[in-house]
Amino acid sequence: MCGIVAYVGPRDAAPLLLEGLARLEYRGYDSAGLAVVGNGGLRVHKDAGRVRALAASVPSRFPGRTGVAHTRWATHGVPSKANAHPHTDATGRYAIVHNGIVENAAELRAKLEAEGVCFASETDSEVLAHLIARADAPSLAEAVRLALSQVTGAYGLAVVDREAPGQVVVAANGSPVVLGLGDREMFAASDPAALVRHTRQVVHLDDGELAVLEARGYRTFTLDARETSKRPSALEGLSTEAYELGGYTHFMQREIHDQPETVARTLSGRLDDRFSTAHLGGLELDARQIRSFRRVRILGCGSAYYAGELGARLVEELARIPADAESASEWRYRNPVIDPDTLYVAVSQSGETADTLRAVQELRRRGAFVLGVVNAVGSSIARECDGGIYLHAGPEVSVTSTKTFTSTAVVFALLGLYLGRIRDLSPADGARLVDGLRALPGQITTVLGGEDLIDAAATQLAAASSSFYVGRGRGWPVAREGAQKLKEVSYRHAEAYPASELKHGPLALVGPELPTVAVVPDDELFEKNCSTLAEIRARSGPVLAVAHRRLPAELAETSILVPKNEPELDPILLGIPLQLLAYHAALALGTDVDRPRNLAKSVTVE
Ligand code: G6P
Repeated sequence: MCGIVAYVGPRDAAPLLLEGLARLEYRGYDSAGLAVVGNGGLRVHKDAGRVRALAASVPSRFPGRTGVAHTRWATHGVPSKANAHPHTDATGRYAIVHNGIVENAAELRAKLEAEGVCFASETDSEVLAHLIARADAPSLAEAVRLALSQVTGAYGLAVVDREAPGQVVVAANGSPVVLGLGDREMFAASDPAALVRHTRQVVHLDDGELAVLEARGYRTFTLDARETSKRPSALEGLSTEAYELGGYTHFMQREIHDQPETVARTLSGRLDDRFSTAHLGGLELDARQIRSFRRVRILGCGSAYYAGELGARLVEELARIPADAESASEWRYRNPVIDPDTLYVAVSQSGETADTLRAVQELRRRGAFVLGVVNAVGSSIARECDGGIYLHAGPEVSVTSTKTFTSTAVVFALLGLYLGRIRDLSPADGARLVDGLRALPGQITTVLGGEDLIDAAATQLAAASSSFYVGRGRGWPVAREGAQKLKEVSYRHAEAYPASELKHGPLALVGPELPTVAVVPDDELFEKNCSTLAEIRARSGPVLAVAHRRLPAELAETSILVPKNEPELDPILLGIPLQLLAYHAALALGTDVDRPRNLAKSVTVE
C-alpha cells in the first residue's frame, strides 16, 4: 500500500528518493511522486502509473538536497496526477506525503473551503498541506504539530518547507514511519525496505510522535510538544539481496523456492532435544501462566488468518487447549467478549495490517495478553504485543504470501509443541515432533523437485473459469489458502470447501467443467476423503489430488505427491504444491504475478 520515502543530507535527493520508491513498489500502488527543496525553490513531480515512468520523466533540472516521495494506492479519489502525492498548499510553500486516512477530512475540507482555500485534488491528504500552511507557527515542526492537533485518523507523513531547506518533518499515528540514520544524512520511510541500501541504524516512531530530520541528526517529540528520547536499533535480517530476483523470473517463484532455507531459519535454535520441546525466547510467559490459559484465539487477515486456522488446529492437537482463528477485521467490529483466560495471538507478515493492529490495541487496552507471530522485525504489531515469535523468513516482496504462510505454520507447530510439553504432550510425542520439524526443509526441497508435473496440472486449472479446493480436518485450512493463492495471482475463481460439506450444497455445481483440487493426507480421514472424491468423479468432475500416495484414476486423474511427515505437520508440506499450482496458472494466463491487480502487500488503512 502507500509508501513514503524522505531524505535530507549532502546528496542530490531525487535519485535517492526514486530508488527508495522503487524498493516500495512491491507493496502495491497506482501513482507516485516526489518533491525536493533546493536553490530557493520547491519542485514537485508526480503522475499516475509506475515509478519507472516517473523517474524517466523527472525534469533534468530538479535540484534539491531535501525531499519527500510517495507511492499512492487510491482510497479517496481515483488514481490520477492530481490525486498523486506530494500535495502542496495554495502558495506552493509546503509539500506533504501521507499514508493513512484523515477521518475528519470532509469536515476540515468544508471549513477550509469556507475560508477560501481552493483544493487541487479529491484526496483527504491535501487538507494536511492547507492546515500546515495556515498554522501560523514559528517553525515547520510547530506548524505540522498544530495542524495534526486538528486531525483525527491514521497517518504516517513527511513534510518539506521551501523556507526551511535542510529539514524534513515526519509524524506517525497508526501508520508506520521509520527513521534511517546515515552518516551526516537522514532518511525516513514507511517501510525499512527503502532504507536497507543506505543504513542499518533505525528509529521507529511511536504513535503520536513527530520528528525533525536534519543532515546532522534528528529530534523527536509528541503531539503535545514534549521531547522524547529514542534508542536506535539495528535492522535485522534484511539485506538488499532479499529485494532482488536472484536469477528467478518473479519474486513469488523465488519465495516459493526459498522455503527450505526460510523454514530452516524459522526453526533455527528453537528445537530442544533434551526436553523434546521448543525454545521460544520472546514469549514473556512462564509455565504457570501457560497452564492457566483455557483457550487460544488467533487473529489475522488474509493468508495470515488462514495460517492462523492451520495454527489453531496445531495448537489444539498438540497442546489440547481449545483453539480457533478469526479474521481480525471481523473480530474488531463485533464487540467481542475478552476472556482473561485466553491467550490471544496476532498473526501478520508485515506487522502493519491496520485491522490486526487495531485488534491488538483493543485487546491490550482491555487487559488481554497478546502474542505476536510476525515477520517484520520492529513493526507496529511486533512492538504492540506483550510477547512474540518472529518468523525470521526475511522480507517477502511478492504481494501474495508464500514463504511467510509456511513459516507461520511452522511457528504454530513450535508453539503447539512448547505449550503441549508444558501441559500433557508426552516426551515421546515431543521427540517425534522435533524430528518431524527438523525434516521439513529437506522434504520441501523434494516437493519443489516435482514442479514440472505441477506446471502441467496448472494449465488445466488456468483453462477452467472456476474450481473447487477441498480438504478435511488438517487439510481444510490448506485448501482455503490454496484457493486464495489461485484467486490472487491468476484471477481465476476458486472456492474452498471443507470436503465434508460438499454434499450439503456445492455438489450441485460439480461436472466436467469444474475441476476440484483435493488435499488428501494419508491420515485417519483418508477413507472419508476418498468417498468425497468418488462422489465428484461419479459426476465427471476432474480431480487433482495433493496426497501422500498415488490415488487410483477413479478417484483422481492426477496425484501430486508430497513426502509424509508426522500427521500434525503434514499440512505444512501439503500447502506447497498449491503455491506452485497458483504460480504456474498465473504464468499460463500472463498476469502480473508479483503485483496482482487491486491488491496491496500490506493494507495499512481500514
Ligand atoms: C493483504 C495482502 C495479503 C495478506 C494480508 C495480511 O490483504 O494482500 O496477502 O495476507 O494483507 O497481511 P499481513 O501483513 O498482516 O500478514
